[in-house]
Amino acid sequence: MCGIGTSCVEAAHLGRHALGIEYEPRWATIARANAALATRQNADGTIRILTADARRLPAIAPSDIAGKVALVLTSPPYGKATHGQVQADRTRGVHKRDYHYGHGTGNLARHDLHGLLAGFTDILTGAAALLHLDGLIAIAARPYRQDGELVDLPGAILDLATHAGLLRADRAVALLTGLRGTRLVPRTTFFALHNTRTARDAGTPLHAVAHEDVLLLRRQDGSDPDGRAT
Ligand SMILES: C[S@@+](CC[C@H](N)C(=O)[O-])C[C@H]1O[C@@H](n2cnc3c(N)ncnc32)[C@H](O)[C@@H]1O
Repeated sequence: MCGIGTSCVEAAHLGRHALGIEYEPRWATIARANAALATRQNADGTIRILTADARRLPAIAPSDIAGKVALVLTSPPYGKATHGQVQADRTRGVHKRDYHYGHGTGNLARHDLHGLLAGFTDILTGAAALLHLDGLIAIAARPYRQDGELVDLPGAILDLATHAGLLRADRAVALLTGLRGTRLVPRTTFFALHNTRTARDAGTPLHAVAHEDVLLLRRQDGSDPDGRAT
């Protein structure tokens, strides 16, 4: 679920060797362009991008990486809309384009919560098979609203992790903030703010989500961060 490959690029600049898997060809194409730019900018690590359905892991991964992966980073989609390209103008208002995922049935963005969780269980099961004994899976996920109801996606992912042969190693918070000098300032997305303001104007007392949960998982047969065998 590497999207346009941002995490792969950062990994390569840290000297890591990254494998990105993305279902939608248009994002995978941009990811390859970003990877080529990282190489031209002398990133020490390497990047491979596969256009594939990550539910088919571990079969789709190169066979030489099984049991060797130190870190799996992923972030599931929260519905069919993505940020896309936005133009905001005082007279014409907000215009969006390219803000929906494709119609491919394998894209988890097109599934309901049940399908998303079933697909994500398959992805985590496949990823666990690639993981080094001491490796970690890190998932960025946040609660989201569907038809007014708050869906606890991080909690649901922690529940399904055991079905994928994984244990919770830690749970952290990634604040959606910017750093101005020594001060943290809120940096939630344009649409999160827009939706919150619209709901509040209509009398619903919503708050914009200001963080993502970062869930850290490890293999059930691995060793815990303090080195005790499990
Ligand atoms: C929340 S986005 C992650 C975006 C990424 N972090 C970035 O910076 O571009 C989730 C991504 O998962 C992809 N995706 C959805 N279902 C997939 C599947 N079955 N296999 C692989 N990728 C999938 C979507 O196309 C989307 O790009």
